[in-house]
Amino acid sequence: MSDYPTIPLPEFVEYPPEEMRERINNFYNSVSRRRTVREFSDRPVPRDIIETALMAANTAPSGANLQPWHFVVVSGAETKKKIREAAEVEEREFYEHRASEEWLAALEPLGTDSNKPFLETAPYLIAVFLQKFAVLPDGRKVKHYYPTESTGLATGILITALHQAGLACLTHTPSPMKFLNEILGRPKTERPFLLLVTGYPADDAEVPDISRKSMSEFASFVDE
Ligand SMILES: Cc1cc2nc3c(=O)[nH]c(=O)nc-3n(C[C@H](O)[C@H](O)[C@H](O)COP(=O)(O)O)c2cc1C
Repeated sequence: MSDYPTIPLPEFVEYPPEEMRERINNFYNSVSRRRTVREFSDRPVPRDIIETALMAANTAPSGANLQPWHFVVVSGAETKKKIREAAEVEEREFYEHRASEEWLAALEPLGTDSNKPFLETAPYLIAVFLQKFAVLPDGRKVKHYYPTESTGLATGILITALHQAGLACLTHTPSPMKFLNEILGRPKTERPFLLLVTGYPADDAEVPDISRKSMSEFASFVDE
């Protein structure tokens, strides 16, 4: 008997192998249609869809269950404008001075540049913050374990959930992103992780013609 409280595993569902295949194929077919979109429509999206996607993200596993993330959902025009202006300053500096030749070459097939109109067009910007520490009400700091891995997993679930709901996303990482703490009033103990631009794609949205590695390149199987 353990000396910590437990509950029976909630609603674990096992499927016969054929049904497992059908379910995983359906899931793969769905996620393989996800693409990063850089042209958004300004059509509104009901806020409860975003809230449920965030609830899904918050189910992510995390180091010692410390849930080291915070999401700020921005829909106000004034704040989106401030974020766009600050991001474009950093992006211009990046493209004109900071990026190495190698980095610019890697970005070339994506056709990205320092103009970020989608930061104002899309109905939602979800700023993801990573908490290296929790700060207790008495000011004491509690260390978080694996905050980067945990926040990455939560963000992956969030992107998948938004896609599942029929929305498009752009994972945006202006570098550095400290301006997000200032504009959104988040404490210095939180590190901006990325900015998820979310909404419907523009009617004429196009995406780069890129491919994925093949299974033999990205996975190995050890059977003995
Ligand atoms: C951590 C991370 C940071 C990214 N940052 C940017 C970014 O700042 N700007 C951008 O246009 N795309 C960004 N992307 C999107 C990638 O370029 C995109 O996922 C990749 O090219 C694959 O395309 P796909 O998502 O359409 O499959 C980022 C993706 C990740 C995972």
